[in-house]
Amino acid sequence: MDAGWRFQMAPPLAPLEGTAITNWQWLVANREARRATTPPAGTDDAWKPAKIGDDPFDGHPGFVWMRATLPALAGPNRVLRFDSVDDNATVFLNGKRLVHHEGWNDTFLVDLDPAWNASGPNEVVVLVENGEGPGGIRGAVTLGLKPAPRQEDDPTSPDFVDNAWRTVHLPHDYVIEGTFTPTADAGHGSLPVAPAWYRKTFTLPASYKGKSVWIDFDGVYRDAKVYLNGKLLGAHPGGYTSFRFDISQAARFGGGAKNVLAVSVDPRHAEGWWYEGGGIYRHVWLNVADPVHVAPWGTFVTAQLPEPKEGVAPSAATVTIKTTLANAGASAPVRLVSRVIDDTGKAVGDASANVLLPASGSQEETQQVSVPSPHLWSLEAPRMYRLVTLVQRAGKTIDTCQTPFGIRTIRFDPNQGFFLNGKHVMIQGVCNHQDHAGVGTAIPDSLQDWRVKRLKEIGCNAWRMSHNPPAAELLDACDRQGVLVMDENRHLGDTFNAKTGRGTPYEDMSELDSMILRDRNHPSIILWSMCNEEPLQGTEEGTKIFSAMQTETQRLDPTRPVTCAMNDGAHHGIATVEAVRGFNYGPGVYPSYHAAHPDLPLYGSEIGSTTTTRGIYADDKEKGYVRAYDSFAPPWAQTAEDTWQPMAENAFMAGGFVWTGFDYKGEPTPYGWPCVNSHFGILDMCGFEKDTARYYETVWKDEPQVHLLPHWNWSGQEGKPISVWAYSNADSVELFLNGASLGKQEMPRYRHLEWSVPYAPGKLEAKAYRNGKVIASDTVETAGVAADIRLIADRARFAADGEDVVPVEVDIVDAQGRVVPTADNRVTFTVVGKSGTGEVVGVGNGDPSDHDPDKANSRKAFNGKCQVLIGAAERDGAVTVQVTSPGLKTAIVTLTARKAR
Ligand code: GAL
Repeated sequence: MDAGWRFQMAPPLAPLEGTAITNWQWLVANREARRATTPPAGTDDAWKPAKIGDDPFDGHPGFVWMRATLPALAGPNRVLRFDSVDDNATVFLNGKRLVHHEGWNDTFLVDLDPAWNASGPNEVVVLVENGEGPGGIRGAVTLGLKPAPRQEDDPTSPDFVDNAWRTVHLPHDYVIEGTFTPTADAGHGSLPVAPAWYRKTFTLPASYKGKSVWIDFDGVYRDAKVYLNGKLLGAHPGGYTSFRFDISQAARFGGGAKNVLAVSVDPRHAEGWWYEGGGIYRHVWLNVADPVHVAPWGTFVTAQLPEPKEGVAPSAATVTIKTTLANAGASAPVRLVSRVIDDTGKAVGDASANVLLPASGSQEETQQVSVPSPHLWSLEAPRMYRLVTLVQRAGKTIDTCQTPFGIRTIRFDPNQGFFLNGKHVMIQGVCNHQDHAGVGTAIPDSLQDWRVKRLKEIGCNAWRMSHNPPAAELLDACDRQGVLVMDENRHLGDTFNAKTGRGTPYEDMSELDSMILRDRNHPSIILWSMCNEEPLQGTEEGTKIFSAMQTETQRLDPTRPVTCAMNDGAHHGIATVEAVRGFNYGPGVYPSYHAAHPDLPLYGSEIGSTTTTRGIYADDKEKGYVRAYDSFAPPWAQTAEDTWQPMAENAFMAGGFVWTGFDYKGEPTPYGWPCVNSHFGILDMCGFEKDTARYYETVWKDEPQVHLLPHWNWSGQEGKPISVWAYSNADSVELFLNGASLGKQEMPRYRHLEWSVPYAPGKLEAKAYRNGKVIASDTVETAGVAADIRLIADRARFAADGEDVVPVEVDIVDAQGRVVPTADNRVTFTVVGKSGTGEVVGVGNGDPSDHDPDKANSRKAFNGKCQVLIGAAERDGAVTVQVTSPGLKTAIVTLTARKAR
């Protein structure tokens, strides 16, 4: 269901003529009030007068009640318009709860008719929750009449005409289409956020009538309200979890009858502190099944096997299959067949059972299959199996589904770290958010794959989904490529705030459940993380919430340890109840913590946070650049060397996750505007390597390597000293300038070597030695003037599905093909040849302070490089893109698009 959506930003609320409500009163409330279904009765004299703009919180977090009496007004369509309630509001009229609104700076309307008392009086009460800073009713409140909604103005109405709306293909992030501005929230990438609408019109064949039909949304950021044919199907506030609606009853079938799906999204209430995008940024699916079917996310496959010795597979594994069968009709006898298929397509075992399903109910069945000589899922050979489930009735298959899974063992040892299939594996991981240059959070599946591949190439073997459940396709990519995963839930307890406050309930586990149920068959996942750096982490309250979540997680999946990311290094709160202890930063405490708690396995849930800008070797505060020598980390963080050395040298540490693999939008550190990106990444926004990536590569990979920095284009600095660094896993490194040795130095393990070299253009060369022999070398040459454009496409072929993209690296090179490391030429991309074959989906260059849009046909190079993402239309053919830049030779790339057959 990804194609042919109509999209439009929501129009601003029309002005409301009416009476200003200015006389308010307030009363202190407590957090219990959050659950109130009616406002307090309270004695009148306890209430104190308040005006619009007053801060009854006096700058502190908390809750207050506010109330006012409304004047008489003849209906219908009475509304109250609130211009700003800071931060969140629950509005009651005459004791009836009408609306809960989140967000401190946006206007919202409350329909009053459902609780209006025609003979008066009418008392409105607002429960105001303040998270930080001043709070209260900060903007005007107006009582008036909303013009009767006209069907043709209402996007939820099937009669609404959306011809003027833009057509988009999912996944789609519209926030990335905006213009950077210093007035937008820098943490979120300095891009404006506003609500929007999506609509999709589709038909369903008559044969679907009587079946079970769902619409599945993989991810909508956020606060989705979904309507079908004018009726609200439901709402899903969370921006990171997958959800579905059963439309078997609400949909129209056959005869060409149109169904209209309308989705409103509102990204204004942030869930995190990084770029979060906005829109239907993951896939949408239509699923159709017999009324008797495998429940969605209804299979759970685990493998039992003795822990292999050093990765060598045992003679057999038992595969336990739990299947939840659902029945939307009358009681039904069915046969459940579960077949295990290996990655060569061979059936290696099956089990079947007769089940009598109750009417309109569901039932879980457990089966076991023995798999002889199993192929283990490992990092080197991530071999997968597939469970094929068949539901049969009277000999006929009425429903079927496939579940990819893997056979492997995992174990955390408090003294020796992590073991996969009985073999020690150091977790050489990175944390990542979910946006990429050119597309924001709407990452096509193949780009997910590419991002995993980029990291694996530099020796990374693990990915922490910080700080939220990812797109399922990213987990598939980690399964396929052999990368370990720490899957993370967004919130501690029932909250949609960036950080969980005191008093947050933990009764609704639906967000957590949805992550575990969707993801528990992925062999790549080794840890379930409940949350990150919560202010309640060390408290009794936080511990209780965590414990409830841990219990729930283990109910749904007893095979993986539950953890979270704590940032205080202390043994208290959650650390006292979790199975595996994650440290965010603070490597100094690893040894003493381990000595004091020798039975608790430890790992670095977040490490590093070195900030470097690719190809920049001196800080530039005005431009927002940080030198790419690994020598700056914010106060809570460590340089890469100070991060990995203690990890590698403390054998009890299971490894860790570097913050971050890729740069991401938002969280500019240490400088703000004009910087609009983080630059914690060891790869930039486009996936181009920074020098820190090469540092990690030398400590993560065994193959001999040496890497030199900086570049060697310092025209105007002749004779002046330049600091030259080398990273290597050799014993010693010798540096040469234009053939003359500048000395050989012993290579300190996990660190770098440094020479001060008076600049002379030419060739800088490093030779790395082990046992007296040269085992690796690296050269950096002074490049000449920019002359040419070199294009490196990741693939030559791609899918003609309107979705697939190929990242193409664009290098500005001199006449001899050497990248010009200071080049900032603007290049323009034009799809040539047959029209409509493909398009430029987005561009980027890794410059954290570039305000050019990601959606464009041109981009300046940044330190010699930029990237273009080329997409195909939904038809076979060649996609040819011409790349031009004044003064440079034109370059051309041709890709072949083919539809899946
Ligand atoms: C951590 C936090 C991350 C990110 C990082 C930046 O403390 O968990 O989300 O903000 O700092 O260094």
